Amino acid sequence: MSPMDRYAVMGNPVAHSKSPQIHRDFAEQTGQAMEYQALKVDEGDFEDAVKRFFVGGQGLNITVPFKERAWHYAGRLTERAQRAGAVNTLWQDADGALVGDNTDGCGLVTDLKVNQKVRLEGGRILLLGAGGAARGVIQPLLAENPASLVIANRTLARAQELVVLFAGSGALQAVPFDQLSGEFDLVVNATSASLHGEIPPLPETSIGEKTICYDMMYGADPTAFNRWASALGARRCIDGLGMLVEQAAEAFYCWRGVRPATEPVLRSLRSQLDAR
Ligand code: ATR
Repeated sequence: MSPMDRYAVMGNPVAHSKSPQIHRDFAEQTGQAMEYQALKVDEGDFEDAVKRFFVGGQGLNITVPFKERAWHYAGRLTERAQRAGAVNTLWQDADGALVGDNTDGCGLVTDLKVNQKVRLEGGRILLLGAGGAARGVIQPLLAENPASLVIANRTLARAQELVVLFAGSGALQAVPFDQLSGEFDLVVNATSASLHGEIPPLPETSIGEKTICYDMMYGADPTAFNRWASALGARRCIDGLGMLVEQAAEAFYCWRGVRPATEPVLRSLRSQLDAR
């Protein structure tokens, strides 16, 4: 039997995932005896691969394109995963049940509040996108008591569905891009537009000198959205590297009961990106 507890991230593609480096750094820092691998899984094999992994394995992260399938496959869901409709973290409970959790929204809110010192309470927040990435952060953002949370999406019906799903959770509205009015305190880009170098069609008037912009994407250079927002005079533009590290830290805490320090890991990932 391996002396190390086994963890992994499953996805496809997964070769460029930063999760192995992040979790190995956390393990070293906290003195946890664990190994962490990236496992590329064929589309048809996901559920079987999870089942095989947990014969001896302790925990999984799940990434694109399997987060929704993990949600369906988990035998038990945490409340935040239930609402997010997607699972990025799995472990087995003492009774053998496979538990699905979602730490993405918590990762975003921690990065905003703790690392970036952004005040969410009472703020006017605009969330761009209505896919899985957007859905996962709605409840954690609403829990911070913003004055309003407006969802704008190219396909308005998807934003409206999310408002129905989270009804009763606060000041949530779906608004078409061309009907957005006034400046926002915070704009979170949860669309995949930056992957293609595109910018969601929000009016320039949504961004002002007090606006903080957050793109869930990240890269060596600022994302297309953050470049656009900077040029419009946004107060600050932040990329999603901190969210990535914070969601990992929360998953690590769920598995090991120990909270790693994220700042050194974030700093080393940032300097690797800058060196490219
Ligand atoms: P994810 O799980 O990453 O959220 P998804 O479910 O495919 O992926 O959702 C992608 C989101 O990005 C959607 O909100 C999509 O808008 P539509 O629902 O109208 O398709 C949005 N999106 C993708 N490319 C975009 C673009 N170029 N401009 C604006 N929105 C875009």
